[in-house]
Amino acid sequence: MRWKPLTCLLFIISNYAVSGFKIPSIDFEMLNELGFEVSIPDEPGIQRVFYMLQIDESCPPLMDYITESVNGSWVSKQKTSLQNNDKLQISVLVQFNEEIFEKSETRVIINKRLLTTRNTSSRTIDFPSGEGECEAILAPQQQAKRCKPAQTIVTSGRRTCEGELIFEDNFSGPHLNKSTWKHDIRQRMYHVEEELVAFDDSPRNSFVKEGNLHIVPTVASEVKEGSFKLGDRCTAVESPDTECNIAQNTFYTIKPPVFSAQIHTRDSFSFKFGKIVVRAKLPKGDWLFPYLMLQPVSTYAESHYAKQLRIAYARGNANLRTKQGEDISGNHLYGGMVVWHHGRAVQFTKDQVSTAHYGDDFHNYTMIWQRDKITLMVDEEIYGELYDGLPYFNEKCFIIFGVTVGGFLNFDDSVLDKDVKPYKNREPRAALSFWKQRDAWAPTWGRQSAMIIDYVRVYAE
Ligand SMILES: *[C@@H]1O[C@H](CO)[C@@H](O)[C@H](O)[C@H]1NC(C)=O
Ligand SMILES: *[C@@H]1O[C@H](CO)[C@@H](O)[C@H](O)[C@H]1NC(C)=O
Ligand SMILES: *[C@@H]1O[C@H](CO)[C@@H](O)[C@H](O)[C@H]1NC(C)=O
Ligand SMILES: *[C@@H]1O[C@H](CO)[C@@H](O)[C@H](O)[C@H]1NC(C)=O
Ligand SMILES: *[C@@H]1O[C@H](CO)[C@@H](O)[C@H](O)[C@H]1NC(C)=O
Repeated sequence: MRWKPLTCLLFIISNYAVSGFKIPSIDFEMLNELGFEVSIPDEPGIQRVFYMLQIDESCPPLMDYITESVNGSWVSKQKTSLQNNDKLQISVLVQFNEEIFEKSETRVIINKRLLTTRNTSSRTIDFPSGEGECEAILAPQQQAKRCKPAQTIVTSGRRTCEGELIFEDNFSGPHLNKSTWKHDIRQRMYHVEEELVAFDDSPRNSFVKEGNLHIVPTVASEVKEGSFKLGDRCTAVESPDTECNIAQNTFYTIKPPVFSAQIHTRDSFSFKFGKIVVRAKLPKGDWLFPYLMLQPVSTYAESHYAKQLRIAYARGNANLRTKQGEDISGNHLYGGMVVWHHGRAVQFTKDQVSTAHYGDDFHNYTMIWQRDKITLMVDEEIYGELYDGLPYFNEKCFIIFGVTVGGFLNFDDSVLDKDVKPYKNREPRAALSFWKQRDAWAPTWGRQSAMIIDYVRVYAE
């Protein structure tokens, strides 16, 4: 274990040096995806070097005790891969002519290269000697808990223990808790994703009943040309022009064919790394699409090209195949990531096909988001692990639940046969085409078109 050499080093720490030697600047190098190394150049007189490395105040820190210089430097190689925005605290103790010198620096990773040195002042270095003590040292104001510290970072910034429940909603109260959840109030029809829906906070479209949250898409009773104005109620921040008010006499003037709801925790709860479990029944009905996802706090729910961690989704359609004959109906479950690269979506997903539509029953959908891996589970069974794409999500994310209709990524023209879809991607009047062909899809909607969420729980990892 790494701890052993520490004991003898701590023994020497007791007589710190008073003068003379100055620790040379600490070199840092990324080793592709595989890790990184820190080093200081050798100088005559250096006898031993001890590194303590903390990524985002990870606890216990990485420690390395170097007794020999190699090719003129004192190097510590680490296998942990660093991501953008990671804060790396490098503390180094150097034994020089029997005296101990210390130095500590905080650096921040930008573009996966170490470009900035945010704080080079040295601090008093506390060297933990075990996990329990590590917790106590790093969280002095918090009651020291004896637990395995988690890598999870929560909104409040407090430290967490592995397995600790950090967020829960059972939807067991009489109403949706409005201090936890905020409704999106806006319309999506002319968004780049061209979803054929307006999100509102009407009790028709979202409500809590018998311990469950229901999100219900409803077909408009009448759709015609005309302006649709949400006015001050609209929550869009980035694109209020298109998301809040569709003015009359523009090419797009058409009232929303479908109303639905989407809620999020952007203002109340976000986390980085952790395990999220959602027990839910997905919606059934043609062209319905559930959102059970996480999105970075630097984005808004309506952001164009927002990166998404999709906990789970299955399309509402009972029957849907790609041109190649692959089943992409609601029997096909997916989870994973959507990121954007030069305006194009790149998806990292894992999936599983079942004999039944995922909207037939409640299932427990789990995403375990760790620094180096995402694990996807349904009903306690792992169906996929993702290792790529994770660096895109190096920030805290908030929870979004919603039911939408259409969308060019959700129902991609390029994988579907022509004329299967009652609208075309990027068609300016997609909503009108969709509405006009409602005889084909509206009969597939009904009570089963609601997404019903029993609970959501987030645990520290
Ligand atoms: C030391 O440097 C030489 C020449 O650059 C190189 O061949 C050798 O692999 C290096 N040794 C180590 C342990 O890195
Ligand atoms: C640098 O670190 C010291 C000690 O941790 C702290 O007091 C100081 O505020 C930091 N300075 C900046 C600019 O972050
Ligand atoms: C949620 O439900 C679980 C399981 O029934 C229960 O243990 C927990 O106390 C509930 N939490 C709240 C906040 O009601
Ligand atoms: C609503 O959630 C907040 C935390 O976001 C919590 O403090 C509060 O007790 C909850 N209210 C009810 C009525 O459960
Ligand atoms: C889902 O989790 C609940 C506990 O929250 C458990 O009672 C139930 O058996 C699980 N369902 C499945 C299908 O694993």
